[in-house]
Amino acid sequence: MGYTSILVPIDGSEASKVALEEAVEIAKRNGASIIILHVFPNRADLIEVYKISNLKSAFREEGEKLLEEACRYAAQKGISAVIRLTEGKPCEEIVKTAEAQNCDLIVMGSHGHNTLSKILLGSVTQRVLGNAPCPVMVVREKKK
Ligand SMILES: Nc1ncnc2c1ncn2[C@@H]1O[C@H](COP(=O)(O)OP(=O)(O)OP(=O)(O)O)[C@@H](O)[C@H]1O
Ligand SMILES: [Mg+2]
Repeated sequence: MGYTSILVPIDGSEASKVALEEAVEIAKRNGASIIILHVFPNRADLIEVYKISNLKSAFREEGEKLLEEACRYAAQKGISAVIRLTEGKPCEEIVKTAEAQNCDLIVMGSHGHNTLSKILLGSVTQRVLGNAPCPVMVVREKKK
């Protein structure tokens, strides 16, 4: 039996775009559904100290834009994806969502926005690999 429910965590980075492309192809071949997740940080500390009360709505708005763009991409390819926006630590939210939604595959980027990093895998991917309830497919950004 193939995959039925694929989780794609996105942060707007090039690698997460490539992960989404791969996930859409896998979903098409397996007749699977896709959940696209974006996690925005809880920066109550910043809001408290600097009184930036609109920080949360700004994160939320940007997250929604990312998710809608990703959803449009999937729809163009014939896959209707469900989008989820949550607040917290990316790794915890990704693992929690995979558990709660009974996902049987997570497809994510090897790296994210930290383009200076020379390490093999970004910290979110490392943590998800160590805690995921299902297989994780790690996709690398295409070489330019
Ligand atoms: N906030 C987030 N919401 C959803 N998915 C995320 C988020 N952050 C990262 N990811 C997922 O994890 C992948 C790897 O990103 P990660 O954050 O681990 O690497 P990085 O940003 O290059 O390095 P680091 O964050 O450790 O400095 C991304 O391609 C994306 O699939
Ligand atoms: Mg990151």
